[in-house]
Amino acid sequence: MEKLVIKGGTRLEGNVVIGGAKNAAVALLPATLLVDGICTISNLPYISDVKISCKILEELGAKVTWNGKNEVTIDARNISSSQAPIDMTSKFRASYYLIGALLGRCHHAIVGLPGGCNLGARPIDQHIKGFEALGATVEICEGKINAHAKDLIGTSIYLDKVSVGATINVMLASVLAKGTTIIENVAKEPHVVDVANFLNSMGADIRGAGTDLIKINGVERLNGNTTYSVVPDQIEAGTFMLAAAATKGNILIKNCIPEHLDCLTAKLIEMGVNVETFNDSIRVYTDKRPNKANITTMPYPGYPTDLQPQIGVALSLADGTSIINEGIWESRFQYTAELNKMGAHIIDQGRSAIFQGITDLYGAPVAATDLRAGAALIIAGIVAHGETSITNIYHIDRGYENIEDKFRSLGANIQRVIEEDIF
Ligand code: EPZ
Repeated sequence: MEKLVIKGGTRLEGNVVIGGAKNAAVALLPATLLVDGICTISNLPYISDVKISCKILEELGAKVTWNGKNEVTIDARNISSSQAPIDMTSKFRASYYLIGALLGRCHHAIVGLPGGCNLGARPIDQHIKGFEALGATVEICEGKINAHAKDLIGTSIYLDKVSVGATINVMLASVLAKGTTIIENVAKEPHVVDVANFLNSMGADIRGAGTDLIKINGVERLNGNTTYSVVPDQIEAGTFMLAAAATKGNILIKNCIPEHLDCLTAKLIEMGVNVETFNDSIRVYTDKRPNKANITTMPYPGYPTDLQPQIGVALSLADGTSIINEGIWESRFQYTAELNKMGAHIIDQGRSAIFQGITDLYGAPVAATDLRAGAALIIAGIVAHGETSITNIYHIDRGYENIEDKFRSLGANIQRVIEEDIF
């Protein structure tokens, strides 16, 4: 078993370079199944969700060539199967994008029900509603989703809930459909726009990504021979911004898109933290305890749920009492029990939590309950007095490349340790 061991009490200082966005990469890779040619994806984060996505593409018959750690060339012209290996698809959430991509490409998909972080119920009814509206029949049986269609015909689809996954999945299923598809009440996250930009760069006709309505004029084929660079990871950048705030540090976060983080920037300024934005970088610095603040997580451009645990660490150390309302997931405060083991005073009320600010955290053995919770516990361990050990770090490896190296380069004392299992 691997764990992270952190000797805390460090003020983080220095520069960090942000990689490509995990939540874009895990959609772009299945999207290559729609391309009738060879395409190269660069600025890919080298994380376990990306590695497994590439293995699945290979299992489907695509030729996948790694050009170093952060770039891959994919030739999906001769795929031989529309059935994704269940043991692999059940390992992560974004495997659901294989349904839209295979349905669009082969008019048939069999994919295992997706796994991923346990954040409470994670229905996919809106994905299915979209596929069915396009003319597909979708059945769920024995842990698998079986979707098939004679023809996919463009239509109007109104999503009942703003969903990143449903927006991207229906987009994937409709780029090669006959006629025009209009999807309303869509998600506007940077990774939604990135998938549309990738598909358009291959010859798709998608308009409106980044607004509430996306219009897709179906095309006959998507051409390859293009290199596409994954958008910088907004959430990784935000994680380091919050690490600077919580550790009273000074970090220059490079290779990010500051506009994607406007909401966090505004919140940090409200908390008394200094933020300077440049073309493609952000500096965050402070030498004071943050002020209290209230937060409600929302779809983009609102405050992202994927930065909720990380700001929870800063607010647990704030001057005063703060409230976070979780507007997306029903169970995203599991990390607060771990932070309380480190001396925080947080009352978990289900969809909201009350953070009574304290001045110091203390090292303790804790477990990552999900990906972003794991990132939050690293920040807490760096601030805390004494030693923190974090188990279940496979969650963290699903979404952050070289996280301990990046924190170490900012001054953190953090080591990955392999421990023999007792049982
Ligand atoms: C994506 O999940 C991200 N994952 C999540 O990031 C992120 O938390 C989430 O979007 C919200 O931003 C990936 O991109 C792979 P949703 P997704 O569909 O697409 C409800 C991380 O840490 N809903 O936007 O699964 C749902 O229950 C992860 O990187 C339905 O009701 O999220 C939730 O309340 C965790 N029916 C809300 O919509 C549906 O069919 C938003 O979910 C779909 C969703």
